[in-house]
Amino acid sequence: MASTFDLLLKGGTVVNHDGIGVRDVAIRGGRIAAIGQIDQSLAGEVIDAKGLHVLPGVIDTQVHFREPGLEHKEDLETGSRGAVLGGVTAVFEMPNTKPLTTTAERLADKVARARNRMFCDFAFYVGGTRENIDQIPQLERLEGSAGIKVFMGSSTGDLLVDDEASLDRIIGALRRRAAFHSEDEARLIARMDVRRPGDPSSHPEWRDEEAAIISTRRLVRLAEKHKRRVHVLHVSTAAEMAFLAEHKDWASVEVTPHHLTLVAPECYETLGTYAQMNPPVRDEHHRRAIWEGLAAGVVDVLGSDHAPHTREEKDHAYPASHSGMTGVQTLVPIMLDHVNAGRLSLERFVDLTSHGPQRLFGIRGKGRIAVGYDADLTVVDLGREEVIVDEQVASRAGWTPYHGKRVKGWPIGTFVRGRRVMWDGEIIGPAHGAPVGFLEGL
Ligand code: DOR
Repeated sequence: MASTFDLLLKGGTVVNHDGIGVRDVAIRGGRIAAIGQIDQSLAGEVIDAKGLHVLPGVIDTQVHFREPGLEHKEDLETGSRGAVLGGVTAVFEMPNTKPLTTTAERLADKVARARNRMFCDFAFYVGGTRENIDQIPQLERLEGSAGIKVFMGSSTGDLLVDDEASLDRIIGALRRRAAFHSEDEARLIARMDVRRPGDPSSHPEWRDEEAAIISTRRLVRLAEKHKRRVHVLHVSTAAEMAFLAEHKDWASVEVTPHHLTLVAPECYETLGTYAQMNPPVRDEHHRRAIWEGLAAGVVDVLGSDHAPHTREEKDHAYPASHSGMTGVQTLVPIMLDHVNAGRLSLERFVDLTSHGPQRLFGIRGKGRIAVGYDADLTVVDLGREEVIVDEQVASRAGWTPYHGKRVKGWPIGTFVRGRRVMWDGEIIGPAHGAPVGFLEGL
């Protein structure tokens, strides 16, 4: 007799929109088919999830996977290996590749490279530039498009739009929520000599709080003028958090695990240029404000901003050293460690990594454990203690800023549309990554 269900996760503690409780989750045809007490004889395969927590699949809405053009740092496959080893079921990838992802053809090329080669599902941001403004409404709606991303301040790569007229036109052209790297380019240029050669602790002095808030005020002013929704990536300052709390109608807020976990000056003393990131990791005043924004509900999502660079690129003397660190594989363990330390609840973690992305970006059929939704699941052991080490890191970069850190809480299993792609540190192929669907792309 054919089974009613393909797969049954039995006895796990499900964290869901209606609370936390022990429930079975049954999967059929890649989707969630039933939740509750389910007879195991109805399933083709049964996985014992007793003692484990079953979360909606973690969606990381900011990663740099570097393909095409920068594959010596990462590629779509290696990046996705890190994702699923870390319990991440879908990623939104950034356009500062070579060439830049700024046209329909380049987006289609990324989608073709990723399909059935990435282990997780994916969407790609399209870079907003002065040249493609007229195509924005189409670029936002293409298959695999996560929407538009704009760099208002220079970071890695050549994407930059810093003049008022172009920003005004881009924001006016938007239909979907668009994502912004918000640092004021004019201030960054004017303050270049604040950087002390060989001293990465001067990085947050150069790219200071003013640079961030000037840009974010401008962004929100334009969003309000055009009645458009903007997403402020990696918010890193107390001033922005207070300002954005007053502008939730227009602006959504992302924070990163590294801005919540690392702190200046210690991180620059211990990690040197390996802590160098844009926007920078700042001092305790800012870290506390980010945690307060998270507790208050101002923060909508967590993104890892996984930005791999090789050791050689990081080892250049500051400021020639590249900005960025790995993060997609460590997002879940680092944040579960914060859960275990009582800094946020497990429900809030799920809100930030599943419900939040679904709500902001209008993701179709993901972000919830609910019947009819994709069976994307992140299974974690909240009690498991592990030490994070470079050797675990699947990224081609081969290092993590958390090397040697003991954490409590660890991803055990990753399910993407009903298929188990990772269990207890082993990747299970073949890769079957597919584009994330969006309500506005229907
Ligand atoms: O530190 C960063 N690195 N910040 C960014 O915005 C870009 C990223 C990268 O691509 O390396």
